Amino acid sequence: MLILGIETSCDETACGIVTDAAAGQARILAHVVATQFEEHKPYGGVVPEIAARAHLDKIDEVVRRALQDASVTLDDIDGIAATCGPGLIGGVMVGAMTGKALAAVAGKPFIAINHLEAHALTARLTHDVPFPYLLLLVSGGHCQLVLAEGIGRFRRLGTTLDDAVGECFDKSAKLLGLGYPGGPLLEKAAADGNAKAFDLPRPMMGRAGCDFSFSGLKTAVRLAVEAAPKPLSETFVANMAASLQAAIAAILVDRTRHAFKAVEGEASPVTALVVGGGVAANEAIRTALTALAAENGVPFVAPPVSLCTDNGVMIAWAGLERLRLGQSDGLDFRARPRWPLDELKKETA
Ligand code: KG4
Ligand code: ZN
Repeated sequence: MLILGIETSCDETACGIVTDAAAGQARILAHVVATQFEEHKPYGGVVPEIAARAHLDKIDEVVRRALQDASVTLDDIDGIAATCGPGLIGGVMVGAMTGKALAAVAGKPFIAINHLEAHALTARLTHDVPFPYLLLLVSGGHCQLVLAEGIGRFRRLGTTLDDAVGECFDKSAKLLGLGYPGGPLLEKAAADGNAKAFDLPRPMMGRAGCDFSFSGLKTAVRLAVEAAPKPLSETFVANMAASLQAAIAAILVDRTRHAFKAVEGEASPVTALVVGGGVAANEAIRTALTALAAENGVPFVAPPVSLCTDNGVMIAWAGLERLRLGQSDGLDFRARPRWPLDELKKETA
């Protein structure tokens, strides 16, 4: 099976092509990502209207390049998948419409993909991970702990009560003058800092359940920045970045440890701890989660960084997983700004 996937829900215009032709082994034939970094940089964050326009400008060329990289034509493709939500609706509509148009022109099935499900399934493209597995989904818009029981079958164990973890990274990076996008820049700054320099709060740590909260942490960073002499010294920035990263890693580990406890009595034991979403690129967080997985006797599975941040390959892969179960969608499928994981179409096979 050969599937083309389109992603436009935030600030990456992306197209990927995957196949499972080689003896059940997935293969990536194209992985094109056009970032809108320059467009949003002056504003220090993603501006939805600018994003929608930029997707419109870039999408045709991105799809063309993906077909070229894979050395295939639309005729060779078995299905077209596109993110239909959740996300910034203007961008989602551009990708969904492009996907539908391609499907209509080529006479191929269209598969409407939930962006979160795509992040959740990416690990199955790169690793042999059977259901059920525990998933920590950490991105710019989401922070959830989920029991992945099958295609379309996700049980949410916990979520954030306020900000997403990526938002906490991004907003704190902005306060520290590190620029945009904040997560990777903050990780870089943290490398030279002392993680014990600031005693930051660790909201929800030790509490029952698996929910998260990050707004208190962000406020603590803001107050410390306001109290510090200006301009901020390099040492201050590095120490704050390291302290914040350590606090976030500790919170994620604590909440995930609770999730392991929450699924302990299930009929089928979890096979792995899987991480998805852009924040999964963070090395300190990966290291902390690796230790936690070992503590629970399961492997820690993290897709490569280029597949953790938004991309078209993960959309194509989710489409492939669905199409091989016989699932596809009508061209009247509507793009959705909100689309929780527990409102998905369930697997049929
Ligand atoms: O999954 P993603 O690409 O887009 C969303 O669906 O949100 O995630 C983007 C988020 C941003 O908040 C970005 O700052 C964060 O992932 N991120 C990181 C790192 N790389 C990306 N956060 C911490 N450390 C990183 N190395
Ligand atoms: Zn994402």
